[in-house]
Amino acid sequence: MNSRFGWFGSCWLSVKNRQFDSGIALVVLVMLGCGSAPIDPTLTTTIPPTTAITLREALPFPIGAAVNPNLITGTVAYRQVASKEFNSITSENHLKMGNVHPAQDRYDWTGSDVLLNFAEQNKQRMHGHVLIWHQSLPAWVTNFQGDSLAWEAMFKTHIQTVIAHYKDRLASFDVVNEAFADDGTLRPSIWLTHLGPDYIARAFQYAHAANPGVKLFYNEYGHEYSTKRLAATVALAADFKRRGIPIDGLGLQMHTNIGQTNANIENAIRQTAATGLLVHVSELDVRVNQAKVAGYVLTAADAQLQRQKFASIVRAYRTLVPAAQQHGITTWNLGDGDSWIPSFCSCQDFPLPFDKLYAKKPAYDGILDGLK
Ligand code: G3I
Repeated sequence: MNSRFGWFGSCWLSVKNRQFDSGIALVVLVMLGCGSAPIDPTLTTTIPPTTAITLREALPFPIGAAVNPNLITGTVAYRQVASKEFNSITSENHLKMGNVHPAQDRYDWTGSDVLLNFAEQNKQRMHGHVLIWHQSLPAWVTNFQGDSLAWEAMFKTHIQTVIAHYKDRLASFDVVNEAFADDGTLRPSIWLTHLGPDYIARAFQYAHAANPGVKLFYNEYGHEYSTKRLAATVALAADFKRRGIPIDGLGLQMHTNIGQTNANIENAIRQTAATGLLVHVSELDVRVNQAKVAGYVLTAADAQLQRQKFASIVRAYRTLVPAAQQHGITTWNLGDGDSWIPSFCSCQDFPLPFDKLYAKKPAYDGILDGLK
């Protein structure tokens, strides 16, 4: 329990765990005389109806979700869960080059405006995703013709325009995403081909020059199963530190599954924290249908395994990352119906803390379990 809640929080949880509904629980809480703080019995009639503690209240570090502007504007339950449970949001798709920069001379801020306005209304931090990636590129970039100077100018202009657009309204940004392959070498991409191997460092320098107030992240996946990719990421951080390249943090995407070992997850988090940079578990989801069984439905047993995996990840993050380096944990969207995974694997899966109707799953409780 976050110490901010002190006696009331622990008492509240102990009463709530007895399965009362919220209103009755409050009365019981008062009758039990929870904690040593004096309680005025008349408060039972004056306190408005209480609700369960939310993730954003309970967690001692920022808890985020990647969100989508169409669902924010179009789906009431989505909007409610996003605002009530989370104090950080990430743009899942709408700051990617293909969306925000559809033509060389045109930027489209429609989707990111929706998200940033939502974040500000709800006192949430917003994390930008992503400036440079090998996917989600507009056709004008994949067809771009020019010499190395023209490529460099195009690359720099994109980075600096996007990161400067919202000034300091975004707290942090993924500058480069997924530059390494599983074997730890640089992934072949148009950026590597046209800009050379030091393009990652230059992306950070350009971003910092245009907006020094935003925290800059390198974001990557697979640290929990690819030791070579983990080593490459840690080496990049050390190299940047040695050369004075401005970087603030590392994003561990953590698209994982119930079969992943806690030892592998802890190793990834521990080694990342040892860089001294901020650590963001940036795209968390936990797959349950590992064998991609056709027609799979979420069983109670698998839901419990998923709860345990969410708990293990939160616990590892909380205990292995020093508080000053905790940029937070972000789930990759909210409800199972919003996840990228089913369309990616062409299979049923249920990887998120809320179901497709935005009811809390055992995985949600797993996030809270990680605080114990
Ligand atoms: O919105 C259009 C819709 O109008 C159109 O009819 C439909 C037809 O394909 O496409 C829709 O856009 C899709 C978009 O997701 C929204 O659903 C894109 O095709 C699809 O490519 C896009 O996939 C996203 C993917 O990145 C590629 O950008 C996923 O939502 C998103 O979750 C995923 O996120 C990535 C991170 O950025 C980086 N790490 C891995 C992660 C998962 O792949």
